Amino acid sequence: FVHQLADESVGMEELLISPLRLEPDPSLPLPLELFGSERKNSAGLDLTVATMRAPLLAAYQSTPVPPVAEFDAKNAAAALAASASSYQMWSKTPVEQRAAALRATADAMEAQLPYFCALLVKEAFKTWGDAVSEVREAVDFLRYYANEAQRIMAPVAMPGPTGESNELRLIARGPWVCISPWNFPLAIFAGQVAAALVTGNTVLAKPAEQTPAVAAEAVKLFHAAGVPEGALQLLHGPGETVGAALVAAPGVAGVVFTGSTQVAKIINRALAAKDGPIVPLIAETGGINAMVVDSTALPEQVSDAVVQSAFRSAGQRCSALRLLCVHSEIADHVIAMIQGAAQELVAGDPALLATDVGPVIDAEAYQGINGHIQRLKSEAKVLVAPADTAQSASKGIANLIAPHAFEVGSIADMRNEIFGPVLHIVRWNGDPADVIAQINALGYGLTIGIQTRIDSRAQALARAAHVGNVYINRNQIGAVVGVQPFGGEGLSGTGPKAGGPHYLYRFCAEQTITVNT
Ligand code: NAD
Ligand code: ALA
Repeated sequence: FVHQLADESVGMEELLISPLRLEPDPSLPLPLELFGSERKNSAGLDLTVATMRAPLLAAYQSTPVPPVAEFDAKNAAAALAASASSYQMWSKTPVEQRAAALRATADAMEAQLPYFCALLVKEAFKTWGDAVSEVREAVDFLRYYANEAQRIMAPVAMPGPTGESNELRLIARGPWVCISPWNFPLAIFAGQVAAALVTGNTVLAKPAEQTPAVAAEAVKLFHAAGVPEGALQLLHGPGETVGAALVAAPGVAGVVFTGSTQVAKIINRALAAKDGPIVPLIAETGGINAMVVDSTALPEQVSDAVVQSAFRSAGQRCSALRLLCVHSEIADHVIAMIQGAAQELVAGDPALLATDVGPVIDAEAYQGINGHIQRLKSEAKVLVAPADTAQSASKGIANLIAPHAFEVGSIADMRNEIFGPVLHIVRWNGDPADVIAQINALGYGLTIGIQTRIDSRAQALARAAHVGNVYINRNQIGAVVGVQPFGGEGLSGTGPKAGGPHYLYRFCAEQTITVNT
């Protein structure tokens, strides 16, 4: 290690000494009584799957996935008209009352945590750990946006030398179309809906076609908490028909979309082609997320962060690590540790508490990811490739893909987001700034991990990376609402940060009122 430091020309005083694992600090409460999706609940208790085991399994036994009726795309204009009508009343409802509806929804969801977890395991094939984290995150979004709306929506006096009274206020825009993905079918769904509603807009919510039931159950809670049925309509169906018809319908005041870059561009084009007002689009999309590891990094910390970031949630997180760029001096050591750690992961039935990696969402996803794996088996160096596909069939678990890792030729080989548990590794030498430049050139900009014990280097690389979220010496998934605002740039989205203090502004127009006093 001392030899590596000499090569890097740094002194001991510049070293970052980080713990190997993140340890939550109980003396630092999360703001606003949030759970912290990855950490503690509002009572400061560690709500782990182990402590919830009995109620979770009981809910699983007794929870069928409720059917959800499909919406007929031909009725899109009528749904928009109903939303516009409800907007007249909902937008005039005091923000305190709208925020109270979100808080009541959050309380009811928290009270039904085992039920929502069971739905997430059954409908989205989440592991129990991921399911608990997701329900916590959804509750956090509801409470955070309730508080934020009350903070920002009060009119602001703009005193000045004009001799008049000037006031700036945020106002709702009208009916929003909220289109969400299957990989966070509760948290992202509820977050979009909550942000639009609490700012006084009405909502036409189009969940992913793979996961309508958990969304429909959440909508029941919003309605029970006082959100009128016209102000929040659930319109389930295929994106190409129902989603497209809603985007194209007259009277849409805004679209918030989370999903693939490709569909975001389709929606952007459809909005641009519409007659009438310019419709704002909030797009939160995918990423080719990298981690850059220099020769001073701690291999144990790197291995732990890589396995979490690349393979947790079966790699089905927009934030997940796809490309590990490791300095050639420590590459063999790091790769050996990753191989060992990956082989410890249990891929299997998500309903079993011991499972680390569940199946991917459906057969179409399985075929796409598996095709990529098969291609890399002949084109790249295989580093982790359990003979999982045959075994998964014998276990009777459809669409199971165990973690894979490959050494590929160059960063530029990464072209598309592979949304599954597949890690690509490249070795580098020379200037780490060049590595960041090559990553930037891919055009995505969601998350990046930096592993180094040279503080000045970590800061310089973080500033050079064109991404929304930088994680230094830790994993790069699991942004915490209200603490780590989340969202990307470039091909990864239009840049709002979900769970951050600026997000709600995107759902509002601004009005200045000047009175000649
Ligand atoms: P997707 O783009 O296929 O679908 C997302 C939503 O768009 C679904 O509800 C779908 O029905 C709808 N849709 C599809 N075609 C449409 C059209 N023509 N018009 C209107 N709506 C349409 O994405 P997915 O497979 O559900 O989700 C995975 C993707 O989401 C990944 O790319 C992932 O990176 C991304 N994602 C991004 C974030 C983020 O915050 N940046 C978070 C989660 C997921
Ligand atoms: N917000 C999710 C994460 O940070 C996608 O992993």
